[in-house]
Amino acid sequence: MLKKVIITSGPTLEPIDPLRFISNRSSGKTGFHLAMEAKRRDIDRVIFITGPTCFLPVAVDLIQVETAREMHEAVNAHFQGTEVLIMAAAVSDYRSALLSSEKIKKNSEKLTLDLVKNPDILQELGMRKEPGQILVGFAAETNAAIANARKKLTGKNLDLLVLNEISPQNPAFGSDDNEVCILQAGGIRKIERTGKAEIAVLIWDEIFKLRAKDRE
Ligand code: CTP
Repeated sequence: MLKKVIITSGPTLEPIDPLRFISNRSSGKTGFHLAMEAKRRDIDRVIFITGPTCFLPVAVDLIQVETAREMHEAVNAHFQGTEVLIMAAAVSDYRSALLSSEKIKKNSEKLTLDLVKNPDILQELGMRKEPGQILVGFAAETNAAIANARKKLTGKNLDLLVLNEISPQNPAFGSDDNEVCILQAGGIRKIERTGKAEIAVLIWDEIFKLRAKDRE
C-alpha cells in the first residue's frame, strides 16, 4: 500500500511585471486525473502541487503555486519519505531575468526580454532519489521524440517517462484526450488515443507494476 505520493500539475507562471507573465498551454487535466486515480487506489496521502489551473482534485493535500521556483520549494519540502513523485507539471524552463515592479510601458519600437533558466526540479530529485522511490517524468516533444525522451529518462534518472508527441493532430495540451508512449528502461508502451482519465489509470498501472518488480 502506498502511503505518500506527490503529483505536480498545471503550468507555471513567470511574472514579467504586475500585469504580464510567461506561461504555457498546460491545462492541468492529466495531473488532475492522476490525483483522482491515486485516491481511487486508496493511497493514504496525495500531495498535489499545482500551478494555476481550474482542475483541482478533492481529498488531496493541495498546494497552489505560481512560479517554477515556488514549485521547486514545495516539492523539495515534501520529497522526503515520498514513494512516488509524478512531475506532470509543465514547468517553465525560463523566467524573466528582471521583474519590473511597475507596468512596462510601450515607449520603444522594440522590447527585448532577457530570460534566465529555472531550476530543473526533476533533474535535482533524480540525483537525490533513494532506493524504493519512483520518479515519473513527462516530456513534450515535436521532433526526434523517442530519442529525446530516452535521453530524458536516463539523464534525469527516472523510472518512467510519459511522452507526448506534439503535432497538429495531437495538440495534447488542453485537449480531453491524448495518445502517449510510456518509456522505461526495459521498453516502451504505446497508448492509443483515449481520454486523459484512462491514461492516468494506465500510468498508475505501470507504477504499480514497477513497485511489484522492486519488491521481488
Ligand atoms: N521539469 C522540471 N523542472 C523544470 C523543467 C521540467 O521538473 N524546470 C520536469 C517536467 O515536469 C517534466 C520533465 O521535467 O516531467 C520534462 O520536462 P521538459 O520541459 O519536457 O524537458 P526538459 O528537460 O526541460 O528539456 P527540453 O525543454 O529542452 O525538452
